[in-house]
Amino acid sequence: MAIHRESIHGQWSNRWAFILAATGSAVGLGNIWKFPYITGENGGGAFVIVYLLCIATIGIPIMIAEVMIGRHGRKSPINTMRDTAVSEGRSPHWQLLGWSGVLAGFFILSYYSVIAGWALSYIYPAGAGSFNSVTADGVASIFNNLVSSPESLIVWHSLFMIMTMAVVARGVKEGLEKAVRYLMPALFALLLLLVGYAMNSGAFAEGAKFLFEPDFSKLTANSVLVAMGHAFFTLSLGMGAIMIYGSYLPQDASIAKTSITVAIADTVVALLAGLAIFPIVFANQLETAAGPGLIFQTLPIAFGQMPGGSFFGMLFFIMLALAAWTSAISLIEPAVAWLIENKGISRARACMWFGLATWLLGLGTVFSFNIWSEVTLFGKTFFESLDYLASNIMLPLGGLAIAIFSVWIMHTQTVRNELAMKNEFSFKVWHFLTRYVTPVAVIIVFLNVVGIIKLS
Ligand code: TRP
Repeated sequence: MAIHRESIHGQWSNRWAFILAATGSAVGLGNIWKFPYITGENGGGAFVIVYLLCIATIGIPIMIAEVMIGRHGRKSPINTMRDTAVSEGRSPHWQLLGWSGVLAGFFILSYYSVIAGWALSYIYPAGAGSFNSVTADGVASIFNNLVSSPESLIVWHSLFMIMTMAVVARGVKEGLEKAVRYLMPALFALLLLLVGYAMNSGAFAEGAKFLFEPDFSKLTANSVLVAMGHAFFTLSLGMGAIMIYGSYLPQDASIAKTSITVAIADTVVALLAGLAIFPIVFANQLETAAGPGLIFQTLPIAFGQMPGGSFFGMLFFIMLALAAWTSAISLIEPAVAWLIENKGISRARACMWFGLATWLLGLGTVFSFNIWSEVTLFGKTFFESLDYLASNIMLPLGGLAIAIFSVWIMHTQTVRNELAMKNEFSFKVWHFLTRYVTPVAVIIVFLNVVGIIKLS
């Protein structure tokens, strides 16, 4: 085998390009929109601790495994799984993991695009000063006006899908590398500014307490599942997104180091978002469990009060939309790469078809906030069901399969060569975690929800 193996879809220029792209994929709506609202719904501190534990013991080992498999296979996840399984003397059916990933990516992107559309729709009002001295009721009505109108939601959803497909059609490497280099630091700076504002909001201590002081009586089996599902979601794991980014990683880059860097950056962004939002929630007597509208009903209050708020507010929603954009790209790349590899169709065409299908499915989410808001399955709207299925079931199952594949199915020598860790002890730690701790943890969380065994 040649020393310089490369994917037909190209390769990152270097390790840093991968870190930026993977961070771009990881940091998105999951950190700024979803993390605060599910933390609010699941009671705060205890949920955050479980989430952090899941990142450390499940997320990071699986991320390393997923990048490793990707770089080893150098193809779309479906073909990577099949080829790697075959070359390791195993069943080609492991490619099913790639298929379930494509499906999960399709589900997630369909609603992700609708929510990203909310961020897009806030850019203009923020800049035009609509949030100046706005009250909590005022922002609630701005938000409700938006989500109650299918037409507006469709316009913004369509715009976001077009933006996403335009980048994917040009190839992930083009443009993305450059965009992320400036975007991530800018987003980080804006979050710090918001945390600074929150510190002076009068309720910072209360917000921080909610986020970090655990009250385990508030933790249910389902919250533990949501925390674990979110660890996968926020790190973009379990569906092949990080696998395909790994397939563009140069051979000499250290997989473990890069993965840990990405996971830490992602976690810091989520915690900063929480620290910015909850003090505002308490200072304005808002509901912590407000649901998906949480950040859209809190942050505008902060922008409306701070000096230069129109400018910073506009910048923030631009950044949020861009962060969503760099994440959305990775949700669809595995499917597009597969279409190119196996069907020989052009990248542009693959994007068009897949984008259209995703856009259509997204209409379900659009309507779940208005005309279908009463249509529920097990008490969940279309959007909630899709998110639950993809984030809490498909991603953890995909992650479990990735963990099992990397340490029980692939030969240890292949894995050792691919990871090329200088430190044997680090390799042993990763191997042990991935072989025992991670799978057992995922299975326990599942069983606990199903109610077969009760932890508490
Ligand atoms: N991690 C992204 C976020 O937090 C979302 C995302 C991008 C994702 N690619 C993914 C989630 C792949 C799961 C799988 O916003």
